[in-house]
Amino acid sequence: MEVVTAEDYDGMSKEAAKFIYEAIEKNPNITLGLATGSTPQKMYQYLAEMLNENNIDLSNVHTVNLDEYVGLDDDNKQSYHYFMLKEFFNKVNIPLENTHIPDGKSEDLEAEVANFEKIITDLGGIDLQLLGVGRNGHIGFNEPGTPFNSRTQVVSLTDVTIKDNSRFFDKIEDVPTRALSMGLETIMDAKSILFLASGEAKRDAVNSLINGEVTEEIPVTILQKHDDLTVVLDKDVLGE
Ligand code: F6R
Repeated sequence: MEVVTAEDYDGMSKEAAKFIYEAIEKNPNITLGLATGSTPQKMYQYLAEMLNENNIDLSNVHTVNLDEYVGLDDDNKQSYHYFMLKEFFNKVNIPLENTHIPDGKSEDLEAEVANFEKIITDLGGIDLQLLGVGRNGHIGFNEPGTPFNSRTQVVSLTDVTIKDNSRFFDKIEDVPTRALSMGLETIMDAKSILFLASGEAKRDAVNSLINGEVTEEIPVTILQKHDDLTVVLDKDVLGE
């Protein structure tokens, strides 16, 4: 595990954007695994700026997203489809047909998760997976107790996650209770992983990642077993 410490959220975002930018420069056929949420939001802004300023060709870059809520339309502002278009895909020259996000509106969710695994396999696997972490240690929407050998599946969100994510919704009842999420084994199959965390609220989860025992009760701890993991943190998450 390589740990990079940035001064603050802005510094973490710049470091992460630089990391992904360099990975794309090195491999123009890269398959990126992407995440949504507050953590990578500014990183996407910096990354889009760097890619556009340098006229980087993204026509052979492919992306697969970690997760999506069940039941939200793509144009719902809280859907991860909407987030990805707004924060990244609409700002850069990536062909939209190269971008893949699980379809939480599918009438056959089991077929959809199987199809998503097939998309990843057909792309030759994920070269670089971006991750944030939930306060309870979830990665993707793999909540505590998710088996380490899980593949992309339909999952139920815990009360902690529903409460945390309700900040984006008008009321807590509007937060979907289910999602589609890459499994922990799917994530661990990525050739390399870039993990980001910022702010005091993530301190316990990050402490478990760095110092804790590997346990299914804290999903993020599985990352200790990945042999190409880069962790970018800010000083708030580290504390004293
Ligand atoms: C998002 C995802 C989640 C988030 C996590 C942290 O695609 O898979 O695991 O990374 O919930 O969210 P933020 O960054 O909003 O604190």
